[in-house]
Amino acid sequence: MGVKVRLAVVSTAGARGKLGSVKVVFTRVGLTLILLVIFLWWRELGFEKAPSRSWFEKNSIGGMKGWIWGEIKPSEDLIWYPCYNEYDCARLEVPLDWLDPSPPNMVTIAIIRYNATERTNYKGPIFVNPGGPGGSGIWFVKHLAPYYQSVVGRNHDIISFDPRGIGATVPPISCWNLSSSTSISSLLWDIQAPPVLDAHAGVLYDAYAHASAFSQQCASIIGSDEHMIGRFVSTASVARDMLHIIEKLGEEKLKYWGFSYGTFLGVTFASLWPQKVGRMVLDGNVDAEQYSSGEGTHFLTDTDAVMNSFFTYCHAAGPTLCALYASSPSTIEVRLATLLATLKNSPVIVPASSPNSRPEIITFSRVRKLISSALYRPLVVFPALASALAALESGDGKPFLSISPQFQDQLPLCDSTSSLDPAPEMPEVESSADASVAILCSDQAPFTGGVSAFSSYLEQCSNASKSAGATMASMRLGCVEWGVRAKWRFDGPFGTDAETKILFVGNRADNITPLKSAYINAARFPGSVVLEQNSYGHTSLSMPSRCTAKTIREYFQEGAMPEEGKVCEGDLIPFQPWNNTSATAVAEDDEHAELDEALMGLMKFPPPFGT
Ligand SMILES: *[C@@H]1O[C@H](CO)[C@@H](O)[C@H](O)[C@H]1NC(C)=O
Ligand SMILES: *[C@@H]1O[C@H](CO)[C@@H](O)[C@H](O)[C@H]1NC(C)=O
Ligand SMILES: *[C@@H]1O[C@H](CO)[C@@H](O)[C@H](O)[C@H]1NC(C)=O
Ligand SMILES: *[C@@H]1O[C@H](CO)[C@@H](O)[C@H](O)[C@H]1NC(C)=O
Ligand SMILES: *[C@@H]1O[C@H](CO)[C@@H](O)[C@H](O)[C@H]1NC(C)=O
Repeated sequence: MGVKVRLAVVSTAGARGKLGSVKVVFTRVGLTLILLVIFLWWRELGFEKAPSRSWFEKNSIGGMKGWIWGEIKPSEDLIWYPCYNEYDCARLEVPLDWLDPSPPNMVTIAIIRYNATERTNYKGPIFVNPGGPGGSGIWFVKHLAPYYQSVVGRNHDIISFDPRGIGATVPPISCWNLSSSTSISSLLWDIQAPPVLDAHAGVLYDAYAHASAFSQQCASIIGSDEHMIGRFVSTASVARDMLHIIEKLGEEKLKYWGFSYGTFLGVTFASLWPQKVGRMVLDGNVDAEQYSSGEGTHFLTDTDAVMNSFFTYCHAAGPTLCALYASSPSTIEVRLATLLATLKNSPVIVPASSPNSRPEIITFSRVRKLISSALYRPLVVFPALASALAALESGDGKPFLSISPQFQDQLPLCDSTSSLDPAPEMPEVESSADASVAILCSDQAPFTGGVSAFSSYLEQCSNASKSAGATMASMRLGCVEWGVRAKWRFDGPFGTDAETKILFVGNRADNITPLKSAYINAARFPGSVVLEQNSYGHTSLSMPSRCTAKTIREYFQEGAMPEEGKVCEGDLIPFQPWNNTSATAVAEDDEHAELDEALMGLMKFPPPFGT
């Protein structure tokens, strides 16, 4: 499940390189800015600072120049075409409405495959879903497939697709008319995003109106008639698409590794077609029932435990490795609380660095959001966060800016050169913010009760998590007054009586998909086991663990379930160096070196989350 805050997507947006078109730029920036929906902020924090534009060109695994999705003719048969150098891509037509699958209303699903590189003892494809909702399967497989394959075994193909409304799948979901200059409106709209809900008295009223207005805007663009895409993006439809793809592949059963929101997709699939479940790993679990009802604050169960790990690991690391160090964990907590209280009344001003830039104001809200997003990936983000916070104490906001999204740099409003490029292809995006809201709101029961009911929900969230409850409440805020109802919404019963043998994976403390949810989901599927990883952050990918990786591999390779109660340790410690070669080159052999490299790679690009 992803949370949204899209701040940092900025870094990837810029990084992904000169993709050229205005449309693409707008889409990305739009993504980057939306603050109300599903959260993707963790990603923003992946780097000491935003990578340069060429970063992805240098590091991307795919990157075939000149090839575009539009060159593949959509087909009702699954026909593969070479793409991105080492991959195969296909565009499969499926019915828009699975409950009334008559033409002409179709959706064209973009699918990607990375072949097994070992053909002896070939074991077929494993599907991955990166989470979100709204995460692009194409993006994640294109950039990370060899890493996923290092974990599951090289005799598996890795396959994914852009779910309805997302990325290269057609039609896309956007709540703005991208075919006209109104896409500028999308940018300006995002910039009006209100502060964190507990920043000042009365913010909620503005934020609720902002969210309601966005819901109305979306309904007018994606739901104004009964055949529009907005009614057909619920997870039930996506699960049905996945069933269709495995049938077209000639596979009898699904093998699947889903993260975060991808666990809801997996649970939905397994509840609808338990006999089609081959092997399924659900990693970073959304409690299916609570997610579907939209109610409750279960997702905040362990959030403060992750925040507390910042204080304890910072203290243990000492002043050299943690800039916010103090004499005890609770003193560090007080230090942070004091900083936040100060920022509420006196935000930090960073003057313009050049005549072409503008001053920045680091507010209480921006810091709260960054902290919330840091909880997704302690290992990668905590040290830089500590440095940024310590600098803010002394009135220096520059380190904060270097790790936080600065979307004004991305605004193409005054950049006439980029805005003249023609749109070369469907945007390759890591995730689609508007789609993520549309999917989430399609899956959930409507929110009723207006702003006063939301106020009480906000209080519940704040009570459930001091560190991030008020920021995370904005996820649900995105669904208030949502006016497009899914034609097919599967809201349970989740689970089955059949022996499904699903492997559930959960961190001991995950900021948005708590361990508790893994046990709740597992109880609905006979024969399942929960594997616990003793670490902090979102999904097992937030912390490399050879033990977890090998357990997952044995499961996919042999169907071997770990014994009930198995706990895997993480391989690294927050605030200790992990990014230098001497720290990582300790693997005893090539196989472990390869696995370590894969786990590091996956840690840097975790699921987009929202959830
Ligand atoms: C992947 O494997 C299939 C089946 O063996 C083959 O047709 C296809 O060309 C391969 N794709 C790539 C990119 O090697
Ligand atoms: C989007 O704008 C274009 C150009 O102004 C217009 O032709 C099209 O009908 C609009 N689409 C919607 C859904 O309003
Ligand atoms: C939140 O916590 C306060 C103080 O413990 C309590 O009075 C209040 O009823 C709680 N609110 C909700 C909505 O649970
Ligand atoms: C590793 O991370 C530290 C702080 O987190 C940073 O100062 C250093 O430059 C990084 N080193 C490399 C090789 O990226
Ligand atoms: C790299 O990591 C190793 C092992 O943790 C540590 O001993 C070494 O000092 C680190 N080097 C740098 C340059 O940070």
